[in-house]
Amino acid sequence: MSRPTPCPSLLRKPALAVSVIALLQASCGPGYQVPAVTPQLVKIARAPQSRLERGYTVHQAKCAKCHSFENPADYGIDELKHEIMPKMARKAKLDMADQEAVLAYLLAARQIPPAPGS
Ligand code: HEC
Repeated sequence: MSRPTPCPSLLRKPALAVSVIALLQASCGPGYQVPAVTPQLVKIARAPQSRLERGYTVHQAKCAKCHSFENPADYGIDELKHEIMPKMARKAKLDMADQEAVLAYLLAARQIPPAPGS
């Protein structure tokens, strides 16, 4: 789970990208290590733990199907809220409650520093 991921940046070669994505997911995991719903995360979040856990679970299940996990800290709060989540929720076919749960989770997760090596 928390293995460091020295993944090669072969993704820039389009012809390789598809097989590399499959390999990355199989061999060294996603580039960004998604934080679990810890007491620390619950404390900084402005959402109940149950919603964060739902967001985490849905995010794990649906959000790395087309690309590896994205670090939410790379994006602004408004961008996540108003642009990225509505768009990605459509792509992942989330209902409104799941979309809100994933958003709550990402807004908390973006305040957690990524694991070293990710
Ligand atoms: C059906 C495929 C698909 C699914 C499922 C998906 N994404 Fe994406 N995602 C994309 C594509 C394609 C892009 C590239 C930019 C675009 O199309 O807007 C992207 C880009 C992103 C970006 C970069 C910001 C941007 O708009 O370019 C983030 C962050 C992101 N996705 C998060 C998520 C999250 C969170 C979920 C789960 C709710 C998710 N994605 C599910 C296809 C998907």
